[in-house]
Amino acid sequence: MTRSSSEDLTETMDTTKLAKRLDDAGQSHILQFWDQLSPKEQAEMSLDVENMDFIEINNFFQNAMKTSGQISQEKVDNRMEPVPREVLGSVTRDPERLKEWEKEGLRCISENKVAVLLLAGGQGTRLGVLYPKGMYDVSLPSHKTLFQIQAERIRRLELLAEKQHSRKCCIPWYIMTSGRTMDMTKEFFSQHKYFGLREENVIFFKQGMLPAMDFNGKIILEGKGKLAMAPDGNGGLYRALGTQKIVEDMEKRGISYIHVYCVDNILVKVADPAFIGFCSLKGADCGAKVVEKTNPTESVGVVCKVDGRYQVVEYSEITLPTAEKRSPDGRLMFNAGNIANHFFTLPFLQEIVRTHEPQLQHHVAQKKIPYVNPQGQLIKPEKPNGIKMEKFVFDIFQFAKTFVVFEVLREDEFSPLKNADSQEGKDNPTTARHALMSLHHRWILNAGGHFVDENGTRVPAIPSLKDGTDLPIKCEISPLVSYGGEGVEHLVNGRAFQPTLMIDENGVHERVKNGL
Ligand code: UTP
Repeated sequence: MTRSSSEDLTETMDTTKLAKRLDDAGQSHILQFWDQLSPKEQAEMSLDVENMDFIEINNFFQNAMKTSGQISQEKVDNRMEPVPREVLGSVTRDPERLKEWEKEGLRCISENKVAVLLLAGGQGTRLGVLYPKGMYDVSLPSHKTLFQIQAERIRRLELLAEKQHSRKCCIPWYIMTSGRTMDMTKEFFSQHKYFGLREENVIFFKQGMLPAMDFNGKIILEGKGKLAMAPDGNGGLYRALGTQKIVEDMEKRGISYIHVYCVDNILVKVADPAFIGFCSLKGADCGAKVVEKTNPTESVGVVCKVDGRYQVVEYSEITLPTAEKRSPDGRLMFNAGNIANHFFTLPFLQEIVRTHEPQLQHHVAQKKIPYVNPQGQLIKPEKPNGIKMEKFVFDIFQFAKTFVVFEVLREDEFSPLKNADSQEGKDNPTTARHALMSLHHRWILNAGGHFVDENGTRVPAIPSLKDGTDLPIKCEISPLVSYGGEGVEHLVNGRAFQPTLMIDENGVHERVKNGL
């Protein structure tokens, strides 16, 4: 709406106030089509912008642009130090400590001190489905969704802790959604009866949304009456923890430790007792689980120190010679690959919410953002025309007093679902499905079972390459039966199976016998 039509907004106090607020913030262009909107569309738009603080949004934009300009100018190579060995725990380098860490983690769980927090507010644009990513079925034999797999892992862990300590316990599950994913996520959980968890222990909350802006700081319209809105990044968690009173809820429940993770990792060990136990025994307030980066040019962020403080440094922020540097043991010097899998104590999170969150700047992501032009036509730009502003979950590492790093095996714990099958051959439904089935195959072998083909010939432990594709044995073990490979020996030891094999709470099912 032009200035004059903005002045027409005099029917109600609210619209007048809105027009004034927008004028004050230099954003009155978002009302340029107001007169063309139906009363319903006008009401919807008013509702959308009612609680938006445009001055604050302008400040976010200015600060984010300033910081991103500074970052892109300088590489951080000279200020970086690798993670020192004394803060590192590793499943491969410290195998003799694993049992002790696990025991401590299970003790914490059994005392109801551990919660898990799922970051599920993303838009999943690369995967390209119209529903939340956690509802995705990667076509496992069971057709379980990511949400179901994670829920069942929580259930199994509760039972393991209960068994070891002979007392009932629960792991509350906090699920961060966004304006776009909240209703569908809640509905899905309710339809599936919370996958066997108690409803009151699954707590949904919403992160904030921010408008996309053009490079001059003007809010972009994606429809005549609709702002282009996006969630404020997975680091939007910290603001939401305060505004949605989640830290208070954790305090009421007596939670001490929180495991934060991303919805898209099919192998995620939710509330991993070894990780929790390691962090707790180290007296850490903040911890990051990492996988070893082995290829210098892999575009993964690495956990390291910069100017003496921990942070994640993106591949684009360092030069190739630094990325290629090696330690005396032959590993890459900066090899702590961040997988967005973190440990926090509750006091640490409380301090973040109270003191540090407001000072964290948004990062800038340049994007191609569909917009309506002054003629009201929707344009899909071919090159970036604006920015989205996001905070990252790891932005708070710098505030840790005792930071630790826990290194795990990629093939056991990390296989993210980012892309659709038709796009890149990486991090897609097929790679996720294969990663889970390969892991379960290894569990069967470790427990003394093996596979045979349709002629009864033993299948080698490492399946052969067919058509250049590494096809895993089709097998799946329900998380309700095993969290990390335990509990299957009595079912498989000394036995030969034909794929497809499924092991669930009702027993062992083979294709040949049951027509799977
Ligand atoms: P990604 O950065 O991979 O984003 O999120 P995404 O939304 O899943 O996918 P694209 O980039 O649109 O294709 C990593 C994790 O952070 C969560 C996601 O849900 C995922 O678990 N996330 C991301 C949030 O919770 N909120 C956000 O604003 C962004």
